[in-house]
Amino acid sequence: MNRPVLEGLRLNVPAYVKHARLVTWVAEVAALTEAKEVYWCDGSEAEYQRFTEQLVAAGTLQKLNPALRPDSFLARSDPSDVARVEDRTYICSAQKEDAGPTNNWMAPAEMRSLLQTGEQALFRGAMRGRTLYVVPFSMGPLGSHIAHIGIELTDSPYVAVSMRVMTRMGRKVFDVLGEDGDFVPCVHTVGAPLAAGQADVAWPCNTTKYIVHYPETREIWSYGSGYGGNALLGKKCFALRIASTMGRDQGWLAEHMLVLGVTSPAGRKYHVAAAFPSACGKTNFSMLVPPAGFEGWQVTTIGDDIAWIKPHADGRLYAINPEAGYFGVAPGTNYHTNPNCMDSLKRNVIFTNVALTDDGDIWWEGMTDTPPAHAIDWQGRDWTPAIAKETGAKAAHPNARFTVAATHNPVLDPEWDNPAGVPIDAFIFGGRRSTTVPLVTEARDWVEGVYMAATMGSETTAAAAGQQGVVRRDPFAMLPFAGYNMSDYFQHWLDLGAQLQASGAKLPKIYCVNWFRKGADGKFVWPGYGDNMRVLAWILGRVEGQADGAEHVFGTSPRYEDLRWQGLDFSREQYTSVSSIDHAAWQQEMKLHDELFRTLAYHLPAELEQTRQRIEATLAA
Ligand code: OXD
Ligand code: MN
Repeated sequence: MNRPVLEGLRLNVPAYVKHARLVTWVAEVAALTEAKEVYWCDGSEAEYQRFTEQLVAAGTLQKLNPALRPDSFLARSDPSDVARVEDRTYICSAQKEDAGPTNNWMAPAEMRSLLQTGEQALFRGAMRGRTLYVVPFSMGPLGSHIAHIGIELTDSPYVAVSMRVMTRMGRKVFDVLGEDGDFVPCVHTVGAPLAAGQADVAWPCNTTKYIVHYPETREIWSYGSGYGGNALLGKKCFALRIASTMGRDQGWLAEHMLVLGVTSPAGRKYHVAAAFPSACGKTNFSMLVPPAGFEGWQVTTIGDDIAWIKPHADGRLYAINPEAGYFGVAPGTNYHTNPNCMDSLKRNVIFTNVALTDDGDIWWEGMTDTPPAHAIDWQGRDWTPAIAKETGAKAAHPNARFTVAATHNPVLDPEWDNPAGVPIDAFIFGGRRSTTVPLVTEARDWVEGVYMAATMGSETTAAAAGQQGVVRRDPFAMLPFAGYNMSDYFQHWLDLGAQLQASGAKLPKIYCVNWFRKGADGKFVWPGYGDNMRVLAWILGRVEGQADGAEHVFGTSPRYEDLRWQGLDFSREQYTSVSSIDHAAWQQEMKLHDELFRTLAYHLPAELEQTRQRIEATLAA
C-alpha cells in the first residue's frame, strides 16, 4: 500500500492499517486542517494513561483525590461550551425536504464551501499547532451484524479519551475494517488553531459552531465545540442522526432509547426499550432498583441512551446498545435516585463541569442532602451554600456530566455485549409533563403506539442550550436526533410494524408514560425512580396477557387496583392525580397535535392524521 507523506508531515500510519481509502482521507483532512502531526489511537490502557497525564499537564483535566475517587478526573469546560447546540446542528441532505421541517438544513455544496472548500473555509488550518488524533471505533460489539464502524479525526485529546470510554475504540477496529470495509468518516476540530509559540488554553473551542451531517455520503463534520454530543461524534451524530438514515435505507431502527432487562422472581427474562428526551432519567430507569414489595425482581442495564434495533429471522426485533459507556447528567444523581449509578462512579470516571470539594472529590446539586461547606464551582470560583443562597450560583452546571465505562455498572446485563442483541418485548415512550399526560397508557395497536410516540411532548432540559422548562413536541424523543424528515421517520416505523405483522410476528407492545405530573403544591406526585417498577410490572403483566386495565379515549391504562402497591403508601386520590384524563386538557392537547401535524404535513402518514381525528371525535362526543 502506498503510504502518502505530506510535505513536512508524516502520516505515521501503523503497519496494521491496511485500508488505502481511509489513509488517503486522513491525509486529505491533515492537509486541509494543517495539523501539526498525526497520531493513530490504539485504544490501549497505556495510551489512555499517557493522554490523561498530558491532559492534566495541559490543565484540561484535574486528577481527583486517589483515596476518594481513584483514577478519576475533573474537566471544566469553557462556560460557553456546556451543552449540545441544536441551533448550530445541520442535516445537509441534497433535498431540503429530506431533512424536513424539524432540522436545520443547508445545501451540501454551500456547507462544504463554508467548512471545507471555500477560501475562508473553517476547517482550513483549523488544527494548526495541534495533533490530529485518528480514533477508530465500533458502535456495537465488534463484528456484530448490527454494529457499524466510525473513524473520528479530532484535535482534542479530551475527545480521544472520552471516545475510549464511550465506544469500543482501538486497533481491533482496523482488523474488522480490513482493506476496504465501510466506515462513517467523522471530522472534529475545536476550531482553535495555535500560532507558533502561542500558549494553549485549558478548554479550547470557538464561539462559531457547526455540527454538520451529510446523510447521503454518511459524513459528519463538527467545528468549534469540545463538549459531549457536539464532539463525541459516535454518540448523537453517528449513532442517532446518521444511523437513523442508515436504518431507513436498510430496514432497521436507531433510537434514543435505553434498553433494560427485567427478570421476574420465576426467572422469566424480558427486555424493554424506552425513549425519553435528554435529561429525563433514562440512566436512572435503566439501572432501576426494584422497591420494597418487589423482592425477587431484578432490572439489568443493556444501554442507557441509544438503541440500534433490527428485525431478526425469528420475526422479533433485537436491540444492541451501540455505546460502551455512559455520558450521563450528574446533578440529581444520588443514592436514592440511582444507587447503581453512584456505585458505577466510584473509580475511573471523567467528570465534566461538576464542583470540586476541598478534599479533592466531586459534588453536584442533589448528590447529598447536606452540601459541602465550601467547594470550587464548575467555573473555578469559590462556592458555599451561602453564596448559592445569595446569588443562585450552582456548584455544578445543570448539564454537568460523568463519563464512565458500562463495565463499571454493578447491574450490567450479562447480555449487554451480545452481538446478536436482545429481543424487545415492549417499547415505552415518556415525556416530562407536569399536567395532562397520565402515568401509563398502552396503545391498542402499533399505529396507535406510533401516534403516541409521534405526538409526545416534553418540558425542555439543560441538555441542550436554550430556554428550559417549556413544553415542546419531541416525537419519539428524537426531535434533535432524527437525521431525516420526521414524517418519513414515522412512516418507517409504520412500515416496519406492518412488515413484521405480515410475517406473522408478535410485535412489541407500545406504552406512553409520564413520571412527572405535579400536584397543586407544584411538587411531583409520583415517587418515580425505583417505584417506576410498579408501572414496569404492569406493562410486563400486559405483555403476558395477565394484567387488567381500563380502555379510554386514546388507549388502556391501569385502574388503581391494577397496580401493585405493596411497600408504598400511595392513595387512590394521589393515583387519580397522576392518572386522570381531563377531557378539556386533552382537547387543548389535541390542538397541539394538530399544530404539530400541520408542521409535519409533508409526507405525514395518513394513518396518523386519521388516528388524530378519531381521538378528537371521541373527545368531542
Ligand atoms: C445526551 C442527550 O447527552 O440526550 O444523551 O443530550
Ligand atoms: Mn440522550
